[in-house]
Amino acid sequence: MNPKRIIIDTDPGVDDALTFLLALASPEIQLEALTTVSGNIGIEKTTRNALAVLELAHASHIPVARGCALPLVSPLHKSGEAVHGSSGIGKAVLPEPKSQPIDQHAIDYLIERILAEPQEITLFTIGPMTNLALAIRKEPRIVPALKELVMMGGAIRSGGNATPLAEFNIHADPHAAHIVFHSGIPITLIPLDATYKCLLTTADVERLNRIDSPIARFVRDATAVYMDFYKKYEGFDGCALHDPLTLAVILAPELFTFEDQHVDVDISGGVSNGNTFADFMKVSKRPANMKVALDVRGRDFIELFIERMESLSRKI
Ligand code: RIB
Ligand code: CA
Repeated sequence: MNPKRIIIDTDPGVDDALTFLLALASPEIQLEALTTVSGNIGIEKTTRNALAVLELAHASHIPVARGCALPLVSPLHKSGEAVHGSSGIGKAVLPEPKSQPIDQHAIDYLIERILAEPQEITLFTIGPMTNLALAIRKEPRIVPALKELVMMGGAIRSGGNATPLAEFNIHADPHAAHIVFHSGIPITLIPLDATYKCLLTTADVERLNRIDSPIARFVRDATAVYMDFYKKYEGFDGCALHDPLTLAVILAPELFTFEDQHVDVDISGGVSNGNTFADFMKVSKRPANMKVALDVRGRDFIELFIERMESLSRKI
């Protein structure tokens, strides 16, 4: 079967970086490009990290287009460093990338690529959705042309991780999420309800590091700060692979429990700003606007992730 052609819009970010590696380790996926956005850390570092991780994985041929430095309306989020470290990739140290981002802005790159090959590209957003929202506003024709959007974001029955009521990617730019949710694009939502069931443990990382490889060492060093954060604040031995789980939509969709639901996002600016909620009782009479992953076999996904990382580590 032909590999699925994807573009990832991203704010790397530790789990973002692991997503690139999983995509590159998976023959079912053809990673066409990365577009960067500010989120976990500022746009300079997210763009640098995207280039550096591709270089680590011998994939510098994949274009990186730099995107928005600020959300549409909200102030820039400042909380990512506690989770992802001041570099954005934990304790991992990667050389300055030799490659540069392309000249085109991420918004224009997304518009050009999606219109050039209608129904061919699947977009994965694993950070705030500022770039996609502005691309929709600038060129509404990308809505019928985009094959599918798979997004990491939101918290449906789960509590939030940016505020008690809101997940980070949505809370960082709730207005962008509102534009995307109401665009008509076919959306698959991978919220915290599923991603918090996918915990990479220190034992998993030790198993991977039986292989002497810069990839295995990167996974160890990049997740070190992330693991400390989860142990200190959430009492977990491990860290949630929020972003990498999105790729299981291609790699192992049978792991998910999906429901078609109408999901909206609070942009009222109050205590629940960025809250994402599903109309389970159908009181709004609005049709479902997305397929929502409300559960997943998390440990089975982690096994898949480690096997793919072992495979990539044996090559690099
Ligand atoms: O809530 C998890 C999301 O926020 C992930 O995309 C992580 O990288 C952070 O951006
Ligand atoms: Ca992210």
